[in-house]
Amino acid sequence: MVDEDIKLIGKDGIRRDGRKFDELRPITIEAGVLKRADGSAYLEWGENKVLAAVYGPREMHPRHAQNPSRAVVQARYNMAAFSVPDRKRPGPDRRSVEISKIMSEALEEIIFVEQFPRSSVDVFVEVLEASAGTRCAALTAASVALADAGIPMSDMISSCAAGKIDGQIVLDLGKKEDNFGEADVPLGMVTSSGKITLLQMDGNLTLDEYKKVMELAMNACREIYQIQREALKKRYSTSLEGYEDIEDTEEE
Ligand code: CDP
Repeated sequence: MVDEDIKLIGKDGIRRDGRKFDELRPITIEAGVLKRADGSAYLEWGENKVLAAVYGPREMHPRHAQNPSRAVVQARYNMAAFSVPDRKRPGPDRRSVEISKIMSEALEEIIFVEQFPRSSVDVFVEVLEASAGTRCAALTAASVALADAGIPMSDMISSCAAGKIDGQIVLDLGKKEDNFGEADVPLGMVTSSGKITLLQMDGNLTLDEYKKVMELAMNACREIYQIQREALKKRYSTSLEGYEDIEDTEEE
């Protein structure tokens, strides 16, 4: 049953989970978590937990789907059966097919696909725990995994949603806010160029509200980009420390 009177923002202007209107849920990213993948990333964003794995560029199968002049990006978004309070029926559904499609299209914008004719770059995202904003979490994690795999690309995509709840424009809607709010606008952006690679909207906004939503989400993407970069720096500085040890032993 939907409670029409549910209040999402308190009198003090604080949201139900204690956040201010322009505050992100906590985000942590770790790169290179899977040995067998060419690149990988694990991301926690509030109560969302997402794992991304990248393979390729590799020969595209089935062969009839190959593109003779460029690589095809095949992203697959999947929610685990145990990722939501009500068991999610395993396998693809309309929603996961849609999210896989928008992710593939967004990632094709950053990968130098023309360098790899007849190939595919495969991106798998498994949502282990879901609590609103998983497509943004998936795209953010997938970008780090692609960079970790060393796939030639222009830059990473950072992604975040903003929207409207209780008549107020807010950043990064949580589960209740997503369910009972008025609008949700997920955005994906290449922060270095300002290029928008994902933009969707659920609900209604006036033009002024839309502009505010975009500003909030774009600023958040810049913040998230720094977290993505830090994850990669940490991953590769740790690897280098390992190499130094090996060289020291060889010299002895
Ligand atoms: O996750 P995102 O906000 O990108 O997509 P959504 O379609 O707006 O879904 C919002 C949330 O609904 C998800 O993050 C899940 O927490 C929840 N959901 C669910 O409980 N069961 C599903 N089959 C699909 C989504």
